[in-house]
Order: sequence, then C-alpha cells, then structure tokens
Amino acid sequence: MTTKPRLLTGDRPTGRLHLGHYVGSLANRVRLQHQYESFFIIADLHTLTTKPEPQFIKEIPTYIREIVLDYLAVGIDPAVSTIFVQSAVPETYQLNLLFEMLVSVPRLERMPTLKDMARDANIDSMPFGLLGYPVLQAVDILLPRAQVVPVGRDNQSHVELAREMARRFNNLYGEVFPEPEPIIGDVPLLVGTDGQNKMSKSIGNAIYLSDDAETVTKKVMGMYTDPKRLRASDPGTVEGNPVFLYHDAFNPSYAEVDELKERYRLGKVGDVEVKEKLARAINVFLEPFREKRAYYLAHPNIPRDVLANGIRRMQAKAQETMKLVREKTGLSYSLDLFTDEVDIFGNEE
Ligand code: TRP
Repeated sequence: MTTKPRLLTGDRPTGRLHLGHYVGSLANRVRLQHQYESFFIIADLHTLTTKPEPQFIKEIPTYIREIVLDYLAVGIDPAVSTIFVQSAVPETYQLNLLFEMLVSVPRLERMPTLKDMARDANIDSMPFGLLGYPVLQAVDILLPRAQVVPVGRDNQSHVELAREMARRFNNLYGEVFPEPEPIIGDVPLLVGTDGQNKMSKSIGNAIYLSDDAETVTKKVMGMYTDPKRLRASDPGTVEGNPVFLYHDAFNPSYAEVDELKERYRLGKVGDVEVKEKLARAINVFLEPFREKRAYYLAHPNIPRDVLANGIRRMQAKAQETMKLVREKTGLSYSLDLFTDEVDIFGNEE
C-alpha cells in the first residue's frame, strides 16, 4: 500500500457554505482529496474564541449538519476523505496545552488576523483563547501530522505559526511533527452580491450552495452592477462589475459571456437580461449539488455514518500522535508508573 501525504483543512461551523467558499476552497479540496489522505475539520472549538456563550454553542449542531451536507453535496468523497468535528477529539485539548508553552505572547500579538477578529466580534479586550486561536489551529494541523494545508491567504499566517510550532516541538523533544506546507488558493476572493466586500454570511451578500433556484434568481436580480450606468443604452463597465465577475466564474458559455460583455460596453443590453442569464447559469451550476443534498437529507443515516466514521478515524490518528508526544516529552504518567519497576517512589528496602 502506498501512503499518500496527509492534508488537513476545514471550516468553523458558523453557517451554510456559499459560492465564495466553493471557488475559494471547496473546488480545490474536491480535486486534492485524491492526491492526499485528506482530513476536513469542522472547527467548533474555534467558534468559542469569539462566542463562548451557551446560546451560540446551541447553534453549533445545526451548522455542523449543514457543513457535512454541503461537503458531501459538492463532492467530498467520504470513501477517501475524513470529515470530523474538532471537539470530538479530546487530544485536541491536550496538545493545545503543550503547544501553549512553546509560543510567546508577543509572537501571537503580531498575528495580523486577531485584531480584526476581535473587532468584528465587538470584543474590546482580547480573550486569552482568541489570542490562542492560531495555536489551536496549529494543533488541528499537527494532530494528524498533516503535511499540506490548503487555505486562503487570510489563513497563511496561521499555517506559518503551525510550521514554527512543529519546529520548536521537534527541537525540544525530538521529531514528531512534519512542517506543514500551505497551499494558498490563487483564486481571487469572490465579491459579494453587493460588489463591495468578499462574500460573507455576516454581511448578508452571499449566495448559498443550498439556496433554491428561486432564491438564487431573486438575489441575482438584486445584484449591484455598474453604478454609473443609469439606462440600458448607456455604455457600461465590465471590469470589476460583480455581475460579470460571476458570469466569468459560473457561466460555462464563454460565447454567451463575451457577447453580453460586448453589448454591455456598447449600451446595447439591459441589466435584466444580463442578470437573468447569470441566474440561469448559477442555477445550472448549483443543480447537481442541490440534488445530492436532497438525497442525503432524505437518507440521514448516510451523513450520520460519514461523520461518525470520520470522528473514529481522526480519534485513532490523534491517539497515535499523542502516544508519540508523551514518549518524547516524558509526560507519560499513569497508574502503571506505580505498579512496575519504574515506580517513582522506589520500593521499601
Ligand atoms: N481558521 C479557519 C477559518 O478561517 C478554520 C480552521 C480551523 C482551519 N482549523 C483549521 C483551517 C485548520 C485550516 C486548518 O475558518
């Protein structure tokens, strides 16, 4: 049996996945899963870094379900890939504590991401756990001893920290962890339907993979276009226009897109036609995902087993890693210590 290099990446369970997730990472994962032994983490503990309150914890199971369904719908194949929930793997907490000893507070304070996360969550004084967000992410990556981590540019600094953690641990205690390589997606972030920002649930400018055709059409018809164009007969700008960015991303008919762009530049097409054609293209694109999603919704035993098996597989990996960690660190106390020849108190006489 040839062993493939191991891959880990994942998402926080904060909502259903949308087109931005698809172009930014899911499409890539579906491709990479055959090349690597792939682990996809649903990082529920990371959501506690900004939302530890019980009312938020209560929402997590619904989001976990949505993400599993989205993963399966887009073609993550549970026969080759492992999907699991972070908090179901107790070794996560254990390794996190050891890693906390191996990084300085100033190093974490220099992370470019944390201040933004605190600000977005309206947090004015940094929780210890939020400062530790990238440490916990290093744990996610290194617990299955992953060699590659496909992430967006926004997570690049976190993978860099994971590399440092691996080096530091190995230097102090001996080789346990590979230095994980990031695979940075080169797709530009998909703008939201408002054209202003990246697509994001919190801004309300997202088209979800699970939206039905009617919802997609309504969202597309409400999209921002060229704000300087008042009438269909005004020449319009195609570059940077969200409607055409989406046409480029989701409409497989280059001929149709080119023809629309041409007429748009000349002021010979109305927004309505451009949008109707876009809505149709996105709906054609999403239809196979919807069908698979409906199938798994109708057969809930399948996603349930997928997740249960994924958790089991990851637990086994984590136990293997923690055994190595205990051996290398010497933190291997257990009741055995008092029953065999290594009794730390020695024998009487
Ligand atoms: N930080 C990632 C995000 O922005 C989620 C995540 C948690 C993750 N653990 C990970 C990504 C490990 C890649 C590897 O949502």
